[in-house]
Amino acid sequence: MEEFREWFARIVPLLLVISLTTANYLPRHHGSVLLENGLGRTPPMGWNDFNHFHNKINETIVRETVDAIVSTGLAALGYNYINIDDEWAEQSRDKEGNLQPRKDRFPSGIKNLADYVHSKNLKFGIYSDAGRLTCAKTQPGSLNFENQDAKTFAAWGVDFLKYDNCHNDGASPKIRYPKMQKALLATGRPIFYALCEWGYEDPALWAPGVGNSWRTTGDIKDNWQSMIVRADQNDKWAKYAGPGGWNDPDMLEVGNGGMSLEEYRAHFSLWALMKAPLIIGCDVRNLKQEYLDILMNKEVIAINQDSMGVQGKRVSRKGALEARLVWGGPLSQGKFVALLLNRGDSTAKIRAYWEQIGAKPGSSVQVRDVWAHKDLGAFSQGYIEEAVDAHAIKMYVVVPKS
Ligand SMILES: *[C@@H]1O[C@H](CO)[C@@H](O)[C@H](O)[C@H]1NC(C)=O
Repeated sequence: MEEFREWFARIVPLLLVISLTTANYLPRHHGSVLLENGLGRTPPMGWNDFNHFHNKINETIVRETVDAIVSTGLAALGYNYINIDDEWAEQSRDKEGNLQPRKDRFPSGIKNLADYVHSKNLKFGIYSDAGRLTCAKTQPGSLNFENQDAKTFAAWGVDFLKYDNCHNDGASPKIRYPKMQKALLATGRPIFYALCEWGYEDPALWAPGVGNSWRTTGDIKDNWQSMIVRADQNDKWAKYAGPGGWNDPDMLEVGNGGMSLEEYRAHFSLWALMKAPLIIGCDVRNLKQEYLDILMNKEVIAINQDSMGVQGKRVSRKGALEARLVWGGPLSQGKFVALLLNRGDSTAKIRAYWEQIGAKPGSSVQVRDVWAHKDLGAFSQGYIEEAVDAHAIKMYVVVPKS
């Protein structure tokens, strides 16, 4: 008995040390660390002007975009944030230190515009910067004005803040970004908080309790190489995403014309699978049907908005630069998503094994092609696609038979 007590006294502190140490290394699994604003239970969907208008934004364009988002049916599919980017404010604050809407571009004011957005059952997003100036340098940043600017945004009815990282005098985002988080929470208005420090200080490691999303990459450009590199960079942080906080490889380029339809389908599918924010970045007022068809694929949107909120990832063992790659991950109700990516320059045969994406090997599964909108039948080990075009994907929802 005495011996046992001695052994016990020795083992308990040891166990404590072991468990505390491992706790530090465990993934901050989805859902465990949340920003307490209740937002972003699934990745945000909406629109932002930057990728198309490059800051040449004004209230006319925003109002017409709101109307188009509704009339095309995009709003009904969940694209509900209407977000303006840089260059919406005057160069200087008013006498009380408040940000002022630019009179040339937003003559009716921001509150008025937000009211219009809300009248269509949509949400309004704005932009600021965790430095002295925004990236365009045409308006002040919110550094040292966090509380005042958060109050202004809340008073205007802002629902979403993209917070950039220019002109920050070298101070760490880990210090500057939580200040705005606290300021937003203090307003009492739920405001989706999108961190945009471009992945500089590995935000997946510290931002899940700070923001609802955090950029993992520099700005995207409207070409295949730029897009696919961002998918690779974002993939690395998959385990840190979950309901309330998402990895953000930047906004969508679909519809801007720099990629082929197959490439845009790959872009949209990868973003959906990675549980990335689906923020449209084109001019939806004049959008060709073929682009709308991509953005409006309900089955792909459902993968992005799946309630389980697990970021799918590259599951092939080969390196990211291999031409033929398999991506996948779990969905709710025991389902899985599988994506075959051909990043090479010629048509390729690609095979996915169900065990790669998490399904039991040998189990019989039903496979549905979410771009062809077709059930392909039952397959037990995996699935071979004989011909995946260059720079193209195939995407499946996989349902194990019970
Ligand atoms: C917004 O920009 C468009 C296109 O440049 C222009 O036609 C329109 O008059 C502008 N509206 C305002 C309020 O500046």
